[in-house]
Amino acid sequence: MRLISVAVAVLVAAAASSDADVRRIRLCADPANLPFSARDERQPGFEVEVARALAQALGAELTIHWVPTAREIVALRQLYDGGCDVFMGLPATAAFRADKPRLQFSAPYYVMRQVVVSPTVGGVGRLDELRGKLVGVQAMTLGDQLAYERGFTRKVYRNADELFIALTRSEVDSVVIESPLGGWFVTHQPGFRLVEVVDPARDVPIGAAMRKVDLALKDELDGALRKLETSTLPAILARYGIGPAPQPAASPALSTELRLARSTFLTQCSQCHGVDAKGTPVAANLQAFKGSEDDFLRIVRNGRPGTAMTPWKGLIDDDDIRAIARYLKHLADTARP
Ligand code: HEC
Repeated sequence: MRLISVAVAVLVAAAASSDADVRRIRLCADPANLPFSARDERQPGFEVEVARALAQALGAELTIHWVPTAREIVALRQLYDGGCDVFMGLPATAAFRADKPRLQFSAPYYVMRQVVVSPTVGGVGRLDELRGKLVGVQAMTLGDQLAYERGFTRKVYRNADELFIALTRSEVDSVVIESPLGGWFVTHQPGFRLVEVVDPARDVPIGAAMRKVDLALKDELDGALRKLETSTLPAILARYGIGPAPQPAASPALSTELRLARSTFLTQCSQCHGVDAKGTPVAANLQAFKGSEDDFLRIVRNGRPGTAMTPWKGLIDDDDIRAIARYLKHLADTARP
């Protein structure tokens, strides 16, 4: 018996060493934070599934370093110290990036929104209908802030679990919460529905973080995201109840061309120019762009030397850049006064 196990051990070692040139991407993820990530093969969470799809697209193997993420500083230290290469689920906003000079961020792979979750029967169809109702929120979140600013009657809970228990017990009429948590709840709990809050100022594009010294990794991940964005990515997100945003009732549905352009804009451009394209402290308001479509194409193809506006020639087809120009024009034309 002894000999056999030694032989097996030798075989395993041999396999491991012949395997040594397989590229590995190490992901940091929380072992117990569904729907984002979980140490559970059958239900690993959408961030683990997206990371796995990205690694596969790059011909790499994904290994996972499990770390609790309740405290951002502790979790990100793993990334700084090389415990892992990639950290999913971080806001791709200028404010979040400002104090993390050693990190770089992938293009966003989804946009986190606020949603209203309420019972299917007698529930809420629009945010305004929350007036006069008791609205459950999680302390210190964008949903809490939203309900507060609108003057809704709030009941504040410490975490999402308590919040949803309160909703199922009818202690509150509705809940305002981030889309992944709301989506996850309604996919599991019959009798509840979800309505997205249309408020671009509160939309948060979410991407992955890497160390800046891993120069090539960002371009690789962005390239892989572009490959996955038409089918694999939406399919993973949909399994966890995170769907594409329905159109606001007031504005007419977008054509297929403009919908695709919106998706390219959100994943490639919004982290600098803002989800609503109205600009951020780091880049211009594109709704206010006064040049022609040809001017737009030229600037986007060539970039603006000396600024963060890098050339997109070869990365996005000319036709798709023109479609982005038309989408932005559409945004500006339909903007509410
Ligand atoms: C990493 C940040 C970043 C990304 C990503 C980015 N831009 Fe820019 N963009 C800038 C900066 C910075 C400028 C130049 C300074 C300015 O005008 O604010 C700029 C300028 C522009 C301009 C000229 C604006 C004007 O009024 O002259 C256009 C058009 C533009 N970007 C389009 C896009 C499009 C389309 C995308 C996505 C394909 C994109 N940008 C992605 C940062 C970015």
